[in-house]
Amino acid sequence: MNPNKALWEKGDFTRIAASMRESGEELVAKLGITRGLKVLDLGCGDGTTAIPAAKLGADVLGVDIASNLVAAGNKRASELGLTNVRFQEGDASNLLELADDSFDLVVSIFGAMFAPRPFEVAKEMVRVTRPGGRIVMGNWIPDDPTLIAQVLKTSAAYTAPPPEGFISPVTWGVEENVIERFEGAGVPKDKISFVRDTYFFNYPGSPSELLGVFRTYYGPTMNAFEAAEKNGRAADLQRELEALFNGQNQSSEPGATSIPATFLRVTVEV
Ligand SMILES: C[S@@+](CC[C@H](N)C(=O)[O-])C[C@H]1O[C@@H](n2cnc3c(N)ncnc32)[C@H](O)[C@@H]1O
Repeated sequence: MNPNKALWEKGDFTRIAASMRESGEELVAKLGITRGLKVLDLGCGDGTTAIPAAKLGADVLGVDIASNLVAAGNKRASELGLTNVRFQEGDASNLLELADDSFDLVVSIFGAMFAPRPFEVAKEMVRVTRPGGRIVMGNWIPDDPTLIAQVLKTSAAYTAPPPEGFISPVTWGVEENVIERFEGAGVPKDKISFVRDTYFFNYPGSPSELLGVFRTYYGPTMNAFEAAEKNGRAADLQRELEALFNGQNQSSEPGATSIPATFLRVTVEV
């Protein structure tokens, strides 16, 4: 089994995505989407950004490596009566089913960053974008003090070391790496721009309850707890993550959670 696919089919990312809907819509609203724009959402999950793009009239294809999330995306689209978005399985490292120059906009929010072989991922994103089109990526930043960077860092610290040659997904959160990867795909540096942006994780329960959702449904955190349980360290991991989730909650409503997470938003003019 492909470990990249197995990680995301484990658990149920739709449970985490439910807390990201407002930020997904806000981000898409900033992308200048017009009716009929051809959009690829890569590593789309169940459509946190693909569905709002379709609601704005774009013609959207969501591609994701996880079959359960593709099914969840198609179910959401049909429940919403959206006929201009569909979801299919595919790997950001090798989009062999997609033709060259077929999209005006390729969006990948915390998606393609998780694929192996980042140079291939950059090449594939550039290949399927038409000349004059755009690529927008959202990437978590290594050592950033906010929620998801810290969840990934803490989870990795409790999980067995990855196989040799593994390139950490958060290397996509470093500007020099992003430039090197897109330059490798033929895009000059002056066509690549960066801004720091924020997603909010909003949950109608306490921060500890939101952590419970991550522990039960978010692949990287599930793996960390499985490894920690084997070493008798699960309570330490729980304590560290409890401090993180509770310490970063900004909601003033008792029993509600709103936690910001900073990311690097990358725009590439192809
Ligand atoms: C953190 S989730 C983000 C999902 C979605 N973009 C969102 O914002 O809700 C990461 C997504 O990337 C997908 N993914 C991971 N590796 C991938 C790959 N090689 N090709 C395509 N999708 C991939 C996962 O299955 C998962 O849906």
